[in-house]
Formats: sequence, C-alpha cells, structure tokens
Amino acid sequence: METILILDFGGQYNQLIARRVRECSVYCEVKPYSTPLEELRAIKPVGIIFTGGPDSVYLDSAPHVDPDIFTWGVPILGICYGCQHMAYSLGGQVTPAQDDSAREYGKTLTRYDTGCRLFKGLPEEGVSWMSHGDYMAKVPEGFALTARSDACPNVAIADENRGFYGVQFHPEVNHTQHGVDMIRNFLFEVCHAKGDWTMGDYKNAAISHLREKVGSGRVLLALSGGVDSSVAAALLAEAVGAQLTCVFVDHGLMRLNEGDEVEEAFAKWDLNFVRVDAERRFLDKLAGVEEPECKRKIIGEEFIRVFEEEAKKVGAVDFLAQGTIYPDVIESGAGDAAVIKSHHNVGGLPDYVDFKEIVEPLRMLFKDEVRQLGRELGLPEYLVSRQPFPGPGLAIRIIGDITKERADILRQADFIFREEMARYGEDRNVNQYFAVLTNSRSVGVMGDGRTYDYTLALRAVTTSDFMTADWARLPYELLDKVSTRIVNEVKGINRIVYDITSKPPATIEWE
Ligand code: XMP
Repeated sequence: METILILDFGGQYNQLIARRVRECSVYCEVKPYSTPLEELRAIKPVGIIFTGGPDSVYLDSAPHVDPDIFTWGVPILGICYGCQHMAYSLGGQVTPAQDDSAREYGKTLTRYDTGCRLFKGLPEEGVSWMSHGDYMAKVPEGFALTARSDACPNVAIADENRGFYGVQFHPEVNHTQHGVDMIRNFLFEVCHAKGDWTMGDYKNAAISHLREKVGSGRVLLALSGGVDSSVAAALLAEAVGAQLTCVFVDHGLMRLNEGDEVEEAFAKWDLNFVRVDAERRFLDKLAGVEEPECKRKIIGEEFIRVFEEEAKKVGAVDFLAQGTIYPDVIESGAGDAAVIKSHHNVGGLPDYVDFKEIVEPLRMLFKDEVRQLGRELGLPEYLVSRQPFPGPGLAIRIIGDITKERADILRQADFIFREEMARYGEDRNVNQYFAVLTNSRSVGVMGDGRTYDYTLALRAVTTSDFMTADWARLPYELLDKVSTRIVNEVKGINRIVYDITSKPPATIEWE
C-alpha cells in the first residue's frame, strides 16, 4: 500500500497531520522517531513527514532520527521541530531566537516562493500558524529559502533535487491558509502519490492488524449502542468474531427501539452477543432519586456492577476492547478542568475486569472517519450517523423522579421529535436534538375536558465540539408539527416548550 510515513517527535498536532494526509486519500502511518530504520524501510514509504515537537535540536536530550534516513532517496517534509531537525542534521545551524521578534507564535503573514514545488499554485502571500522559539541561523548546503515573514527570513527551506522541504509553521492546522494545499503538493507534486487510498483499505489493514494482535485470544467489549463502540464491535467481529463477546447493558433508559436495533445490527456476525436486560435493576436503584449528580453516580456504579457480573460469566479474557477515538485521546490529556457533570462513559472499566491488555482499534480515527468505517463494515445508517447519546441515557432527560411510566412518555415524545427532524431534513443541520420531560405540570384543555399534565421541552443545538453550543433556529413549521403530534399522540403531555439557551450559560443536557 502506498504509504506516507509520519515520524513523531512529540508535537501536539501530529494526529492532525495524519488526518490531513488521509483526507488526500493517501494512507499514512505514525511511528515514533526512534523506530529502527529497518522497520521503517519495510514500510516502503513514498514520502516521510517529520512532525513538530517540544524540544530544541541543539539540546543533548533532543530526539534525533538515524541520519541514514537522509540517504534513502525518499522525499521528506519537516514541520517546525521536524524542519529544524532536518536543517541541523544536514549541517545547518539552529539557535535560540536572538531576540523576541524572531520567536514566532500564532498567526503570521508569510510570503511564499511559488516556484517551489511545495507552494506551487498558491497565492504568494497568506497567514501561517507559527509556534517556534528557535531560529535556523544557517541553512544547510543545497537548500534555498522559499518563504519568509517580517520577523524571519527563513520560514521555509527546500532542496528540490533531493525532495527535502522544511517549514517552520504548521500547515496541518486550519489557521494556516492553504496549509492543506501545501500538504497536497508534497504528496502529489513531490512524492508522486496516486491518492487512491480508501476507507475500505483502512478496514482491511485494521482487520489483519487485529487478527495478528489478538491471535487466538479472547476479547470482551462493552457495547453501548453509540457510534464508537458499535464500529469497534463491528471491526472486531469482522476480524475475530468467534473470539469476541459484546456485552450490551440495556439499562432501560434507552431511546425507543434502541436495544432491538443494536441487537439486530449485529445479528449478521458470528459473535457472542450478550444483551442484559437490566431495566428493573436500574429503575429500582433510581427510585425516588431526583438530584442529577446522584442519578449519574448510581447509573455509573450500577453499570459497572452489571458489566462486572457479565464479565465474570465470560471468564478470563485476554483483551478488553474499547471504542476510544482520537478526540477522546486528546480530551483525556486535558488536565484539571472543573467537573461540571460527572460524565459516565462506557469506556473506563479496566479496573473491574480481569484482562491482560486493552485494544483500541479506533484510536487513530476522527469521528467522521469512524462513521465512514462503520458504513464500510455494513452497519446500518441509523447506527452509523447516530447523534451523541449520553451514557446515563434518558435518566438525565427526565427531570425529577424516574419511573417506567415517565420514561415511556419521554421515549414516545423523543421518537416523534426525531421522526419529524428527519422528515424535514433538519437532522443533518443540527448536531444534537432530543426531548426532555420536565417535572412541571400545567393545566390544559383537550376535547371538553381539563388536563393537568407534564410540560415537555425540546432541545436542539448546533456545535462543533460540544464544549460550546448554540440553540438551533428550527423552522416554526417543524416545531408546530412536533408540538401538535406530541400533545395528540403522547398521553401525559399537554404543553411543549422550546429551549432557546446556548451553552454556556446552559449545558446541552438538562441535568
Ligand atoms: P453537556 O450537557 O455537558 O453535554 O453540555 C455535552 C455533550 O456530552 C454529552 N453527555 C454525556 N456523554 N456520558 C456521555 O457519554 C455522559 O454522562 C454525558 N453527559 C453529557 C451530551 O449529550 C452532549 O453531547
């Protein structure tokens, strides 16, 4: 497979580089810079990218790659630290920037030599995203300067004969205008990649990798029915189906038909699918509990208990599989942010299960890539394009006491809302939408009679990262239709309100 090798020097945008390359339909692999050269050679890359990194090349502790890499005859693009490393290794000089003005951080107006293959077809000027405190005081022999900024005359270097390019800025981040075009130029103009890699190829590679890793071992996976764990399950099912046990804990707070849909989606694979009907158990524990954090804690703990019991029945397993995706990897490194809500994810269970190793087959993928992989594996569209659904499920969308009756009311109302959102095509414009059953009751009139029923709130938001969100401007016609249908079709609701608060100050979920 035509491969670009990304050598990781510890920079913060490394996975983003991989993503950009794959967006150009070129397969890539990220390897630590210290990987032995023979191992890298075996990959037969058509090009190599050195990533950025936090170090300074002239320090003793700085990471260095085997210098023989420069005599391979494979084109190299060095980004930030990678650029300085290449310059330094080939006889250039890199020093701390003399004065503050040569240290560049953030958006910087940059002028490019468009005669250079890396910048071919680009405007001569654009903003680039810099983040470097070191300076290439002398560039190595054979290299030309190909971009400059006001503070720095050598923002980019190139030795076109050997196919070596270096940029001090980060072409992979969105802040760099035409950054993706530069990466594309490296791939197609310099490395002559064909760009015919597809998610189907990725699937096949991942399957053979999983088979190799798992061998004849047994794998256990907690399946939530969300996109990530479903795609991870499908991939493992395809790779080592008979050795895989998926435990799907139905806590009775799923959306309408959800449990059956998940079970149905996996019927085509030969795997051990355990569906635990734990509705009664969860509802008993939750009876009379109104405080949101309490609800979350009870569900989190009970979930672990149920999962643990099921895992015991399965016996010792070799691998615990998790649907961790790349944004989870970034977020888990996010540090000490204040706890606004104790999120319960089906992920972090290792302490409770007897296993030897973790497998995370989606660790390298972004959400949209995970969805694409799911389609490739033949999962149904309703599962693959599913919006996020919180681990505690409807429990945090039922304000006040949780009973089966109230859960059923919410399930029906939520189903109608989702049905109409899809009918109006708004499900594609909005990132998350759902109904909330409030604990407020009000007087209404239906037929000739008085009602005293619950108020239901509709929530729909647009967001890119779910950290902040704006309420969605849904068409009145749609809201009207949903309101009419719910009040007519769902017994127990006589009033509908639409939530028009953004996050912050509100959160997306109500609890
Ligand atoms: P909030 O309500 O904090 O939600 O604005 C942000 C996003 O996180 C989802 N969410 C959860 N997801 N376990 C999850 O897996 C949870 O406990 C949980 N609580 C909130 C929420 O649906 C939204 O997408």
